[in-house]
Amino acid sequence: MALERTDKILSSQNVASRSEIKSMIRSGRILANGKRVMRPEEKYDPETTVFTVDGRELEFCRFVYIMMNKPAGVLSASNDKHAKTVIDLLPPEMQRRDLFPAGRLDKDTVGFILITNDGELAHKMLSPKSHVYKLYEVECDKELTEKDVEAFAAGITTGELSCLPAEMKITGKSSALVEICEGKFHQIKRMFQAIGAEVTALKRVRIGEVYLDASLAQGESRYLNNEEIIHIISRKHGI
Ligand code: URA
Repeated sequence: MALERTDKILSSQNVASRSEIKSMIRSGRILANGKRVMRPEEKYDPETTVFTVDGRELEFCRFVYIMMNKPAGVLSASNDKHAKTVIDLLPPEMQRRDLFPAGRLDKDTVGFILITNDGELAHKMLSPKSHVYKLYEVECDKELTEKDVEAFAAGITTGELSCLPAEMKITGKSSALVEICEGKFHQIKRMFQAIGAEVTALKRVRIGEVYLDASLAQGESRYLNNEEIIHIISRKHGI
């Protein structure tokens, strides 16, 4: 049983800001197991305590997992002084102080980004050792051939870039699906540069076994369901 301060528990649940919560406690608006909380520093077990806020029961939720269809032009970061981030795009009802994007997509890359507050799951999803594959739709400025497929399958190695074998499936004259389980800086773009091509459009469409929900418009988000939370760290792969 891990006890936490009342103001910390409630602010993690997006009830209000920490200072607002303090004043709500002072005015007697917060109950814990039916008894008035007197001080913000009173400690409770968030998993077992029933809090009520203005008479409404709070459903405690430790971790959240959000699928966003990232548009171009926003940063995969929690906050930035100058540019819009994926967190800024979340609707107010999904906002929580502890959210971060699990991994990065470039500013001009679109598609599936996971936003969570679960550091352990994010680590599992991102570590190359976990072999969680991510699938990208790629368009480039060169006609792709079987030689390129073979080069990816052998593992691209040039200069400072050394990649594990990757599967490429040509889907059009200069478009392909590519699956990788690493997340090196600009990895897909650099892999294509290594075969003499510039990436002109990049979209992530799957993480683990979970596909980007086609009903999400760019910039929209939804919570993952329980099955998707398990499958997002699946090692299964193949295009
Ligand atoms: N590879 C890239 O080059 N960019 C991304 O955003 C993701 C993978």
